[in-house]
Amino acid sequence: MPESTLPCQRALFEIPDEVAYFNCAYLSPLLRSVRQAGHRGVDRKVRPWQVFPQDFFDESERARELFAQLIDARAKDIALIPAVSYGVAIAAANLKLTAGDEIVALDEQFPSNVYPWLEVAKQTGSRLVFANRQPGEAWTESVLREIKPATKLVTIPSVHWTDGRLLNLPDIAQACKQVGANLVLDVTQSLGAVPFDIGSVQPDFLICAGYKWLLGPYSFGYLYVAPEFQGGKPIEHNWINRRDSEDFGGLVTYVDEFQPGARRFDVGERSNFALLPMAVAGLQQILDWRVDRINASLATLNEKITNVAEDLGLDVTPAPERAGHMLGLRFPQGPPSGLLDRLKQQNVYVSLRGDSMRVAPHLYNNDADVDRLAAGLREFM
Ligand SMILES: Cc1ncc(COP(=O)(O)O)c(C=O)c1O
Repeated sequence: MPESTLPCQRALFEIPDEVAYFNCAYLSPLLRSVRQAGHRGVDRKVRPWQVFPQDFFDESERARELFAQLIDARAKDIALIPAVSYGVAIAAANLKLTAGDEIVALDEQFPSNVYPWLEVAKQTGSRLVFANRQPGEAWTESVLREIKPATKLVTIPSVHWTDGRLLNLPDIAQACKQVGANLVLDVTQSLGAVPFDIGSVQPDFLICAGYKWLLGPYSFGYLYVAPEFQGGKPIEHNWINRRDSEDFGGLVTYVDEFQPGARRFDVGERSNFALLPMAVAGLQQILDWRVDRINASLATLNEKITNVAEDLGLDVTPAPERAGHMLGLRFPQGPPSGLLDRLKQQNVYVSLRGDSMRVAPHLYNNDADVDRLAAGLREFM
């Protein structure tokens, strides 16, 4: 095993031996440690007399710190949000677009990063332009082609959610700077499994759901806000985001000021006693493993799957656009009918997104899972 890879971590999860789960891009399974953290969190509400005002703050700060560590930002740059759509709504409320402005997105991008901009376009007279990838082209080239003087915003993912095709974010960020366009990133399908540092891209907003590659619970995610937007407008006004909210006795002394940094954008009731400890436990495990080692380990596993797929005559996204952590496999005649059901009968779990069969493993997958997948696919070739 190369030094930078990790051994299989299946024992830290609760996955039966016969289940080959290749669907982390859909919903990650919970680590035992995350499950236990959630149970402890639920139990706290059984005894509310043991919950103190400081408890509304400490765990939130811990989640902020750990997420910041993952992208090499500061805790104060991070807001806690329930969904990607919530983070995109904050970006949409704080970026000034006017008639004639162009917003660039990817063709078939995940809808939570499309609908808000269609709404903005309707309200402002700006226009949403979808970058179309031509055959043989990388997404980066298609995006760069659409960035023009009229472009005021590029709002894209770090990888395409259907097949993991990578985008070169530093190059796109550079092109945005040249025309004065803002950059919004949805890193849900890569962060935690692909190394990323904020300094090399410097987006204005970066958004990540926590329930996939961050191994966290559903309904808990993160928003990075660049310093110049940290004085911006939240999309709701709640008590805990205001200055001195730690003083529960003084809450009705209403104040105009907010908590420092991006905290003003936190969703109401962000101090969720069950979800927060789970989110923290997931982030802690990712940081302990190290993202570069997760990436190298998943790339090794995906290399095996690529070999199997190519031997069977399936098309695999070519390097260098192929991500280490996620694969898109395509059948020459399109996906066979009944594919997912038949695989499911054999306890093999993948997704179909468009014409791509998405294979998204994690450290719980082993060689027996790959053999199971290979046997399942062989039936269709
Ligand atoms: C790229 C991407 N962004 C966001 C989401 C989830 O969005 P939301 O948190 O708004 O439900 C998904 C879910 O599959 C996704 O693939």
